[in-house]
Amino acid sequence: MTDHDRFDFSRGDFPEGFVFGAATSAYQIEGSSFGGAGASHWDTFAATPGNTVRAENGSIACDHYHQWASDLDLVRDAGFDAYRFSLSWARVLPEGRGRANPEGLDFYERLIDGMLERGLQPWATLYHWEMPAPLADLGGWRNRDVAGWFADYAGVIMDRFGNRIHATATVNEPWCVAWLSHFLGIHAPGLRDIRAAARAMHHILLAHGTAVAAMRAAGHGNLGAVFNFEYSAPGDDSAPARQASALNDAIYNRWFVEAVFRKSYPDEVLNGLEQHLPRGWQDDFEVIATPVDWVGVNYYTRNLTVADPETPWPSMKQVPGPLPKTDMDWEIYPEGLGHFLRRLNAITPDGLPILVTENGMADGEPTQDRTRIDFLNRHFAVARRAIADGVPLKGYFVWSLLDNYEWAMGYDKRFGMVHVDFDTLRRTPKSSWHAMKAALSLT
Ligand code: FCB
Repeated sequence: MTDHDRFDFSRGDFPEGFVFGAATSAYQIEGSSFGGAGASHWDTFAATPGNTVRAENGSIACDHYHQWASDLDLVRDAGFDAYRFSLSWARVLPEGRGRANPEGLDFYERLIDGMLERGLQPWATLYHWEMPAPLADLGGWRNRDVAGWFADYAGVIMDRFGNRIHATATVNEPWCVAWLSHFLGIHAPGLRDIRAAARAMHHILLAHGTAVAAMRAAGHGNLGAVFNFEYSAPGDDSAPARQASALNDAIYNRWFVEAVFRKSYPDEVLNGLEQHLPRGWQDDFEVIATPVDWVGVNYYTRNLTVADPETPWPSMKQVPGPLPKTDMDWEIYPEGLGHFLRRLNAITPDGLPILVTENGMADGEPTQDRTRIDFLNRHFAVARRAIADGVPLKGYFVWSLLDNYEWAMGYDKRFGMVHVDFDTLRRTPKSSWHAMKAALSLT
């Protein structure tokens, strides 16, 4: 190994008990066509022309449904302590409610027991974006009843696996579920409608809080919330750009966490959304703010915003930035991670554990992924500084274990520490996987 093939850190540079993990999600790796899963809105979204690159979908994905055991070996062999995975709602409950799919539950049983046998902590995410199609028919996140449907689904999972799951997150990335998918129309269900977006922005939080309260009442603990953040900077020096960037920050980085930790929504977002919110939204904050045991940060990039006065509220648009970019065209900006770790620490109850639940990059290099090693080096360095400054950062999950289905971008955007050949489905660890193994074996 040369210096370029190594991480600058080793396990011993982090506090005792710091959790190193790898992250994935169900639809992106399992293969939704296997094992009696019901259709989700990602299956139907991808089946609609123009929504995903080459109309690619997750029907086979990485075939993790069949290759899960050797995939878990890869997590263990790299020396990780934990594996962050998600359960597919449509696989567990094909209709979204009612009848469970025994094959689906058995799959997750094998997977969770497989983690425990390998000494890996199971970190489960209940919703990483697979709304069952029959519930999408009823409006999905637009329908207030989704809070009860989601809490019931959480109950099915926790009744069966709660005694073996180490930590449970409700929803992965509410901004993506609500704004990206109902306002920008980029992810399923692909809506571009402000009323739909406002309802999704509220109901996703209500569902989170309802599920946490129900799981807590049933005796389960170590329950968390996972948010995604993008550092928001003005695209030029003008006052309108500064204002637009602040509004973007409020929609993206403040709406969800302030609801959960402050029981309020930012005024500047209410200016545009309040008229579209469901009646009585103000009364839901007690449920939304049900206490959690930890909070997760997914961080990838920053964005530059300018005013776009020709368009209706929020009257802003993103512009390309000058920094080096990943294959997603996302600017590499490690400082943003430190910004959010500190900011989150300031808004959460004293000492609430914070984890980086996702960080990584898309890079097409199939084996010698030095760019990824450098990217992770820089972000882990920022995490260490945050710990030194007193942020209670307790763990770090790299996105992702495997190259996988990157949603609307299809299979070209490769985030894995392990290369996947999508013709043969063969896995080959990249340099970053080997570097991780070296770093984690040193104490
Ligand atoms: C996050 C998602 C994850 C993956 C990465 C690149 O927003 O949680 O599924 O797509 O981005």
